[in-house]
Amino acid sequence: MGQSIAVMNTKGGVGKSTVVMALAETLSAYHGKNVLVIDSDSQTSMSSMLMHISSWEQMERQNRTLVDYMSTMVLGNGQASWKDFVASGVSDVDDARSVYLIPSHMELSLFEREVSAQQREAELRAVVRNLLDEAQRMFDVVLVDCPPGLSLLTECWLREVQFVIPPTKPDYLAVRGLAILKKFREQYAAQGFAEMLGVLINLKDGRIASEEDWHAKLMADPENKCFESHIPRRAYIQRAADFDMGKRTYIAKYPGDAGQSIRAMTKEVLTRLHERAMAMPVAPPRPAPVARNATATAQRMVPPAQQSRPVPVMAVAEQAMDPGVVPHLRVATPVRPVAAFSPAMSAVTAALESSARSEGPRLAVSDGKPAK
Ligand SMILES: Nc1ncnc2c1ncn2[C@@H]1O[C@H](COP(=O)(O)OP(=O)(O)O)[C@@H](O)[C@H]1O
Ligand SMILES: [Mg+2]
Repeated sequence: MGQSIAVMNTKGGVGKSTVVMALAETLSAYHGKNVLVIDSDSQTSMSSMLMHISSWEQMERQNRTLVDYMSTMVLGNGQASWKDFVASGVSDVDDARSVYLIPSHMELSLFEREVSAQQREAELRAVVRNLLDEAQRMFDVVLVDCPPGLSLLTECWLREVQFVIPPTKPDYLAVRGLAILKKFREQYAAQGFAEMLGVLINLKDGRIASEEDWHAKLMADPENKCFESHIPRRAYIQRAADFDMGKRTYIAKYPGDAGQSIRAMTKEVLTRLHERAMAMPVAPPRPAPVARNATATAQRMVPPAQQSRPVPVMAVAEQAMDPGVVPHLRVATPVRPVAAFSPAMSAVTAALESSARSEGPRLAVSDGKPAK
């Protein structure tokens, strides 16, 4: 069974998307993991980092973004398989071949407004839960790139994923953003919340004394479970955000000390995931989603007007996936990138393609290169 992580800080510009991309590419290139990235930010920066804009436009034309999936499941007829919204072979790193993406769309915030207007929050959370449950049976790691701010969908991810990694700059505003996330977790604790996997310090400029102080403060707080490795501010990490149409090697994208720290951080993430998987071999039953207001909860969980409406979650849950293709968490940590597609990765691609065929000829799985 795979594991799921939301990368979240209520502060923007702390490197959430950069960390998701670097983690996904390192898990794929160095550890042979199958990684599903879910871009849950209406800014779509994760999507544009992992695929060429023309590929994204192709998926938009085919109605294959996260917003299309969520709209169908939560506001529409509930008949869709999330696997049809996954692009395979994304990333411009030629040795990271097992990174998959559900791209986002700028209309995500309009969708969230409509969910609120129609009081479908409980349905949204159920769809999120089901997607994660199924995706974790197919991928080693599911990474959710969250926007800053506590939107409706972000709240669902935070309550349904297993773990959260908040990246933070070692500065006042980013640390305040982290504090808001902690406060939010404590405020509605009964509704479930992702376990803190560890705070990741990013964008550290070693020449600024105040950043050393913030770094030390963050590390000293045991609640933060800070990763030992931090990612320094480097121009080439900034350039990593620009999708390279010509493809590049992993080392060309992540050279030098920042590349080393990204690989060290990835190892720490894998070690912690492994430890948690060992500590919790059987997943405990999860409480049902609960809305904040008890009266509203009853109304929202079974809205009278919707009692005859098909329950979309079950429709997807009943689509059995072949457990034989499910890759299990592997903790191998090779010292150099794997050169070829792993068998498990091919199985994921095959599962996605067979799902696409069963749905008819509506898509060609994106290969991350510019669409024709
Ligand atoms: N370690 C780093 N060194 C240099 N630039 C970085 C680093 N991490 C992120 N950036 C840059 O900082 C900006 C914000 O990063 P991004 O990942 O988009 O943040 P967020 O998703 O939290 O809004 C981007 O331009 C990105 O390229
Ligand atoms: Mg971002």
